[in-house]
Amino acid sequence: MAAEMALLKPISKFANAPRLAGPGAPSRPRFAAVRMSATAQPAAPKKPAKKANKQAIKESLLTPRFYTTDFDEMEQLFNTEINKNLNQAEFEALLQEFKTDYNQTHFVRNKEFKEAADKMQGPLRQIFVEFLERSCTAEFSGFLLYKELGRRLKKTNPVVAEIFSLMSRDEARHAGFLNKGLSDFNLALDLGFLTKARKYTFFKPKFIFYATYLSEKIGYWRYITIYRHLQENPEYQPYPIFKYFENWCQDENRHGDFFSALMKAQPQFLNDWKAKLWSRFFCLSVYVTMYLNDCQRTAFYEGIGLNTKEFDMHVIIETNRTTARIFPAVLDVENPEFKRKLDRMVEINEKLLAVGETEDIPLVKNFKRIPLIAALASELLAAYLMPPIESGSVDFAEFEPRLVY
Ligand SMILES: [Fe+2]
Ligand SMILES: [Fe+2]
Repeated sequence: MAAEMALLKPISKFANAPRLAGPGAPSRPRFAAVRMSATAQPAAPKKPAKKANKQAIKESLLTPRFYTTDFDEMEQLFNTEINKNLNQAEFEALLQEFKTDYNQTHFVRNKEFKEAADKMQGPLRQIFVEFLERSCTAEFSGFLLYKELGRRLKKTNPVVAEIFSLMSRDEARHAGFLNKGLSDFNLALDLGFLTKARKYTFFKPKFIFYATYLSEKIGYWRYITIYRHLQENPEYQPYPIFKYFENWCQDENRHGDFFSALMKAQPQFLNDWKAKLWSRFFCLSVYVTMYLNDCQRTAFYEGIGLNTKEFDMHVIIETNRTTARIFPAVLDVENPEFKRKLDRMVEINEKLLAVGETEDIPLVKNFKRIPLIAALASELLAAYLMPPIESGSVDFAEFEPRLVY
């Protein structure tokens, strides 16, 4: 898992659902501090100084989230006795692919990392650290969810369960590699603390499939696009982590393909009008979250020689094309009006952020936010209601029961 889908809000009626972190996972206000521990020296990255030099990162609506789901329903969905659509041969083949572990020896660091980190100074250094933190949190979020699914599905469907466990292996590797990157900047994310302290967003399994599929595929397109750009323009390579993105993103692509296979095994999630509405909703949420997030961090993308909006539109268009192979409907993101709407959302979001920066008392700030939030909501709704593209080569007609994608 790589990209964020933070605009997706918890559904209130499930607010008391079980959480991955077990009894102890406290809820917290939306703008809270996440603990960062600064390592005293890079030579001792495993023992973060618990009290000294703690840094806080500000959380917002757009911060990567952790997810949990209804594991009992998941067990039902993957029970081969109940669900006759499960193509076990396909899952066996996928399992073999995951067991091959193409990237087992890929994530090996060298001395270039520390040297590059030491050279990075000024605003780029700060924004780069934030990139590492956010990416690490997003990868770690995937690790937690897949690990738990691997554990919970062991009895009902050991093949699917093992794939989840192997995907959690991949995500742990990605998160660990990013966290090692942070150690080059004398920082480390306290992942144990994050596991316990963060709020988990609950999604029903159906929504986990849509959201996670999109997250993996958008992650693939982000990583491969950055990789190709830096291959062509090595003068913008600020830090060697990007050299690892080519193989890394293949992990994300495989994860996405697995979710595609999972959705094919649950045709009820793909073949009716509700599925079309939800598909469009999730596409919109994921694309808007990324666009707003990235436009707040143009310094990072410009720092590696990219035009933020062009980069994002490329990623959105490619992800949408990939997603159209499986989702029954997608957004018409190639219609120029879609980008115009995204740009208006960026402007409104900037005004919202500016309100937060003022010296006003909270009540006044909230009053000032009301018209802006209304304007943002109306742009979102207008984008959602744009004529969609009917998609998905999945055919559920009786004369062709096999699904093709
Ligand atoms: Fe990942
Ligand atoms: Fe992934």
